[in-house]
Amino acid sequence: MSDQKAILHLPGKEPIELPILKGSAGNDVIDIRTLGKTGYFTYDPGFLATASCESAITFIDGDLGILEHRGYPIDQLAEKSDYLEVCYLLLNGHLPNRVQFDEFHRVVSKHTMLHEQLVMFYKGFRRDSHPMAIMVGVVGALSSFYHDSLDITNETHREITAFRLISKMPTIATMSYKYSTGQPFMYPDNTLSYAGNFLRMMFATPCEEYVVNPVLESAMDKILILHADHEQNASTSTVRLAGSSGANPFACIVAGIASLWGPAHGGANEACLEMLEEIGSVDNIPEYINKAKDKNDPFRLMGFGHRVYKNHDPRATVMRKTCHEVLDDLKIDDPLLDVAMELERIALEDPYFVEKKLYPNVDFYSGIVLRAMGIPRSMFTVIFATSRTIGWISHWKEMLDQPGQKIGRPRQLYTGESGLSFDHVDVRCKSDDCE
Ligand code: SDX
Repeated sequence: MSDQKAILHLPGKEPIELPILKGSAGNDVIDIRTLGKTGYFTYDPGFLATASCESAITFIDGDLGILEHRGYPIDQLAEKSDYLEVCYLLLNGHLPNRVQFDEFHRVVSKHTMLHEQLVMFYKGFRRDSHPMAIMVGVVGALSSFYHDSLDITNETHREITAFRLISKMPTIATMSYKYSTGQPFMYPDNTLSYAGNFLRMMFATPCEEYVVNPVLESAMDKILILHADHEQNASTSTVRLAGSSGANPFACIVAGIASLWGPAHGGANEACLEMLEEIGSVDNIPEYINKAKDKNDPFRLMGFGHRVYKNHDPRATVMRKTCHEVLDDLKIDDPLLDVAMELERIALEDPYFVEKKLYPNVDFYSGIVLRAMGIPRSMFTVIFATSRTIGWISHWKEMLDQPGQKIGRPRQLYTGESGLSFDHVDVRCKSDDCE
């Protein structure tokens, strides 16, 4: 809190003092909670200048390209930590000691399997269903299996639900892929790391031993870390809004998955690869750059731009390095990477992108890395959702822990008709003596 005030002058009213609240870092905010009594609302579609909540989980400085989880810079977490430790950090607010981490890992490994009835759920989907559609269906169905832990006011219920979601998302995700291939589901192997288990459930078959490639395991772990949380993005805000009504956590996470699916958000990595394939060769790049700049053309460079980052997305910097490590290790000469690198070079020099501060974001490189790892494009956003689940749960938990939490209920600027009288001919009347 600070003693600074913003003074608002409204027509025909006394000046209004609005408190200015200071955080531990980043922008100060003007507290407008009392504004409603003046008869005015603020207007901010897309929430370009609106802080929806107070949070201590993730800090982003878009101008400086800073991303920190509980104060730790993302590049250090990606290089020195692992996804499960980052899950503990996001959820609990501090890094675990050895005993705490071992217990966290033990509990996560005890919940990786799905109820066999839920496994049958997959059989109701068409084989060519998009894995995101399957994930929305299956995660939503989880609440029908856990009637014993849906009381969101119960701390133990909240904790076990968090563990179930962290543990089961990789199993749900990989099963949606296996189902699309007609191959049998692979059950989790709890002796493997979180990332190694994911790769094994994706690519192993019961017919032969599967050995996790350590380079791919490290790359998958980095991808999971880099996508784990990102402040109040669209899907996290969706989870918070759903949770504010008291909906059960599985329903809230499904709302987040649905929001993430959009190509402007988590669907961008899949859309980016489609774009690179459509561009096809370095020679075609100028044509697509012009399309992206053309106001009358809906085409945008997928994987470029960000609501917050007006500098490099620090995740993209780590992802770019990981991308080259994977391609070098697998000795893959991917022409799409040539297109991607040339596109990045041109875009970063083009005045349009420079002036609008449109840099490559995390999705620009993640698509190429995942493709190099043999992961089909339709699974890219599924992996993003698997990783972001810990962010969604952490924000949901933080919101419920905050005193005085209210249901989210924005207002509007109404521009429709009003005060009409219903003297309309009753179209439902069929007899001749109707008026
Ligand atoms: C994610 O919020 C998060 O934190 C999200 C995320 C997370 O971890 O949760 O970081 C993950 O969603 C990353 C973003 C992935 N999306 C894409 O890569 C899709 C392509 N990018 C754009 O759709 C866009 O940049 C957004 C949606 C990401 C951001 O859009 P904004 O903030 O609403 O900005 P805008 O659309 O108002 O664009 C500002 C200007 C516009 O031009 P003008 O109207 O001012 O003339 O920049 C232009 C836009 O036309 N512009 C682009 C562009 N992105 C913005 N022009 C061409 N190509 C682009 N990619």
